[in-house]
Amino acid sequence: MTDANRGNWGSRIGFILAAVGSAVGLGNIWKFPYITGVYGGGAFVLVYLGCILLVGVPIMLAELIIGGRSKRNPVGAFRVLRSEKSPWQLTGWLGVASGFLILAYYSVIAGWSTAYIFKAIQGFSGTTEEIGAQFTNLQNSPLLTIFWHTVFMGLTIAIVIRGVQKGIERWSKILMPILVAILLGLSFYGIFFTSGGVKALSFLFKPNFSQLSAEAILSALGHAFFTLSLGMGAMITYGSYLKKEVNFSRTALTISLLDTVIALFAGIAIFSLVSQYNMEPSSGTGLIFTTLPVLFKETGVLISVPFFLLLTFAALTSAISLLEVVVSYFIDERRWSRTRSTLLLGGAIYLVGILCAAETLKVPFFGKQRSFFQIFDVITTNYMLPVGGLLICLFVGWVMKEKIPPLKSKASTIFYQLVIFILKFLTPVAVALVFLNKLEII
Ligand code: TRP
Repeated sequence: MTDANRGNWGSRIGFILAAVGSAVGLGNIWKFPYITGVYGGGAFVLVYLGCILLVGVPIMLAELIIGGRSKRNPVGAFRVLRSEKSPWQLTGWLGVASGFLILAYYSVIAGWSTAYIFKAIQGFSGTTEEIGAQFTNLQNSPLLTIFWHTVFMGLTIAIVIRGVQKGIERWSKILMPILVAILLGLSFYGIFFTSGGVKALSFLFKPNFSQLSAEAILSALGHAFFTLSLGMGAMITYGSYLKKEVNFSRTALTISLLDTVIALFAGIAIFSLVSQYNMEPSSGTGLIFTTLPVLFKETGVLISVPFFLLLTFAALTSAISLLEVVVSYFIDERRWSRTRSTLLLGGAIYLVGILCAAETLKVPFFGKQRSFFQIFDVITTNYMLPVGGLLICLFVGWVMKEKIPPLKSKASTIFYQLVIFILKFLTPVAVALVFLNKLEII
C-alpha cells in the first residue's frame, strides 16, 4: 500500500500536537494527581520524573523509530523491519489488542467526565455526602453510564473516521491549545487567587522520602508508561504518518516533557483547591468526581465547567490515538477502507465498553469477583503494556540494525547515543522489575 493511501501528517507541529494529545489524557489530569495524593507528594513526584527520563523517553524514542522507519501499523512494522514470518509481529498484535481493551474502559471514565460538564453547568449543591452520592449514582447506573459512553465513543469515531490530517491532526490542533489555555488559567487561579497555592507547590515539590514505599516506586514506573501512551504502539502508529525523517530523540524528549509539564500543572491546579479548603489530598480515585465538586460549590461555574471540559478534551485526544492503532492495523494489513475499519472496530470496542459500564456485573478472575472494568485495567496496565514495552525496547536496543540516519549536529548525536545506551541497558531491567513485582501484587 502506498503512503498516500495510509495518510500522513500535514506539518511537524500537527504531529507533535497529536502525539502530545495522545499522551495527555485522564492519566495526567485524573490519575497523576490522585496517585501523587495517595503516595504522599514530593518524593513520589521525583521518582516519577526519574522514570519518565529512564524509561519513558527511551521507549518513546524506540516506538518513534519503529514507526518512522517502517511506515506501518504496529503489526506490519515488525514485519517490514524483520521478515514476513517474524515472531516479533506478536508484539504488534499485543499492542492492537491492548488498544482495543484500554479504549473500552477508558471511554467509560471519559463518559463520566462528559456527564460532569453538564452537572457543572447546572452547578453543584448539597452536602458533601450528597455530592459524593451523585457520583456513586452515575457509576451504579448502567443506563446513564452507557449513555455517556455512547456520546464519547461517538465523538471518538467521528474524528478518526475523517482520517489522519482532516480528523486527528485537525482536532488536535483545535483541542490542544484550548486545553493548555484552560489548564494555565486554572493553575493561575490556584496559585494566585486561592490561599492553597503555596501549600500545593510544597506538597508537589518538597520531597519527604520517609513516605516513599516500594509500591510507590512501582506505581510511578507503571504510570510513566500509561501517561506517555507507551507499550502498545500508539507512538509507532503516529510515527508512521511522518512524511520526512525527524530528529527522533529530540521529538521523544519534547513530547515527554510537554506531557510531564501538563501533569504537574494539573497537580498544581487541583492541589491548590484541595489545600485551600483543607481537604485531604489522598482521597484516591474519587478526587476528581467527589472531592473537587464539593470545592466547586464555592468557586462557581467559571472554574468547574472549564475543568471538566479540560478533562474531556484531554481524554478525547487520547481515545482517538487508541482507536487509530486498531484501525490502522485493519487499513494496512486487511486492506479495509478507513470508514469500514473505524465503524466496525469502533463499534466493537463500544460494545465491549458496555460490559465495562456495568460495574455491578462481576465475574471470577484470579480467585476474586471483579468487574470487566477492573479486569481490563489490570490486564492492560499490569501485563500487556509492560510486556509490550519491554519487547519494543529489546527490539530497538538489540535486534534492529539500521536505527537512524546520520544526525546533523554533534550534540544531537551524543544525546541520541545516550538515550540508546539507556534503552539497551537500564530500561529493560527497570521494566522487568516492575513487571515481576506486579505479578506478585495481583
Ligand atoms: N496517555 C493517555 C493518558 O494519559 C492514555 C493513552 C492513550 C494510552 N493512548 C495510550 C495509554 C496508549 C497507554 C497506551 O490518559
